Amino acid sequence: MTDLAFLLNGTPVRLCGVNPTRTLLQYLREDRGLTGTKEGCNEGDCGACTVIVSDESGPRAMNACILFLPQLQGKSIRTVEALSGPSGEMHPVQQAMIDHHGSQCGFCTPGFIASMAAAHAQGRRDHDVVLAGNLCRCTGYAPIIRAAEAAAAQPVPDWMRDDAAFICSEISSGVRGQTAPGAFRPETTDELADWYEAHPEATLVAGATDIGLWVTKQLRDLPEVAFLNGIADLQRIETQGDSIRIGAGVTLTDLHAAMAGPHPHFAAMLTRFASEQVRNAATIGGNIANGSPIGDGPPALIALGARLHLRKGAARRDLPLEDFFLDYRKQDRQPGEFVEAVTIPARAPGLRVWKLSKRFDQDISAVLGAFNLTVADGTITAARIAFGGMAGIPKRAAAMEAALIGQPFARPAFEAARAAAAQDFTPLSDMRASAAYRLEAAGNMALRYFHDLSGTATDLHEVRA
Ligand SMILES: Cc1cc2nc3c(=O)[nH]c(=O)nc-3n(C[C@H](O)[C@H](O)[C@H](O)COP(=O)(O)OP(=O)(O)OC[C@H]3O[C@@H](n4cnc5c(N)ncnc54)[C@H](O)[C@@H]3O)c2cc1C
Ligand code: FES
Ligand code: FES
Repeated sequence: MTDLAFLLNGTPVRLCGVNPTRTLLQYLREDRGLTGTKEGCNEGDCGACTVIVSDESGPRAMNACILFLPQLQGKSIRTVEALSGPSGEMHPVQQAMIDHHGSQCGFCTPGFIASMAAAHAQGRRDHDVVLAGNLCRCTGYAPIIRAAEAAAAQPVPDWMRDDAAFICSEISSGVRGQTAPGAFRPETTDELADWYEAHPEATLVAGATDIGLWVTKQLRDLPEVAFLNGIADLQRIETQGDSIRIGAGVTLTDLHAAMAGPHPHFAAMLTRFASEQVRNAATIGGNIANGSPIGDGPPALIALGARLHLRKGAARRDLPLEDFFLDYRKQDRQPGEFVEAVTIPARAPGLRVWKLSKRFDQDISAVLGAFNLTVADGTITAARIAFGGMAGIPKRAAAMEAALIGQPFARPAFEAARAAAAQDFTPLSDMRASAAYRLEAAGNMALRYFHDLSGTATDLHEVRA
């Protein structure tokens, strides 16, 4: 019996009895001898293991080191070994990397090539964003970016277009439900609800960008798992009147695209969420359910007034997202209950979201502040402010909000809110920031909000002398 089927470099693969937490990187290098895909960090940070994963939604770059094999059911994987044409012709990004001297020691190069080829197939031109998840220690990025720019003018080679047709006709059919001993792969939310209620001790794996590290870094065994990435109805984004319902299985990439129109400041922050490869796998449901105090999604969603939809078997309930986070890594979620969706308003013109981290790209927040004020006739009539990185949970700033509501929209109110941050938070010092820095930065964001809404430019990517 076949447990799992996918396409690897154009060839169908059918596997039985796979260990459900065997990573694609282990499979490629150890079982298939495809050692072009490198292992650098083994935790999603460096991009050395980047491969191209295609399905009905097109080709996407992903990190093979934190992709479990069952996540690949029905998909097509292309590694660096299969980017050149059938007669050995080079892919345009390969030729451009040679022409522009984009490689020195070469360790990072296969990962860069895979990221560049995925972006080339998508017609992307935002090379800085695309390559933010690939680290190079010796060449320097300028030649690599020049290569990406040069390749962008070349057409997508024919052989790169073959995968999608094959996926639909050959691979998607025939393999349902159990994908390996101890691993379940539901195709509907109803199937998941029934199974999880009966297996409440199981681990739900969505994008595995957190869980991947439990396995590769903490060496944890996951005896029973359900893979959620085959559940189409969990990946829907629906506008319902004046609200938007976002399924828990929506990836950060798809969320970013959906937020660009209604909530551009939220979308702008999401380009700084991890990297292209991680956003292509990571889901908003995983970002909420993991309960991290430094997750980037929850503060923005709380400021928007999000409601969280939970489901256990046939029973559903919903609650304000801020009430889901009870204490450090403790959420209001029962055994067998899962996150089904989150609902946000379709409009919030006052929303601003700011992420502070040591690096601009691919870094975890030291502080993330999200502000959403309503102003009528010059008076602040409503305020929702939430922070990440300031407490053991993503948390609303009640005192800051109280300092603003009912006040004229003018600097004194925001000075008062800045001072009130100390009533709301007693942050910790860690390697990302000191407690004093966090408190000052959070308070200062209130002033930044005032200046931003008053028309003063506050987004600086570069400070020049
Ligand atoms: C290199 C790297 C960079 C990162 N950078 C950032 C960053 O900048 N900002 C940030 O916020 N995060 C970051 N992360 C963390 C991670 O990407 C996010 O938390 C992501 O949203 C997790 O989603 P996932 O689908 O991968 O979750 P998974 O790893 O699959 O699951 C995470 C947790 O959520 C549970 N879960 C998943 N879906 C559900 C559901 N529907 N119902 C109930 N439980 C569920 C799982 O059981 C698990 O406990 C980074 C991770 C990596 C590896
Ligand atoms: S090995 Fe570094 S991202 Fe996979
Ligand atoms: S070429 Fe050496 S790390 Fe990039």
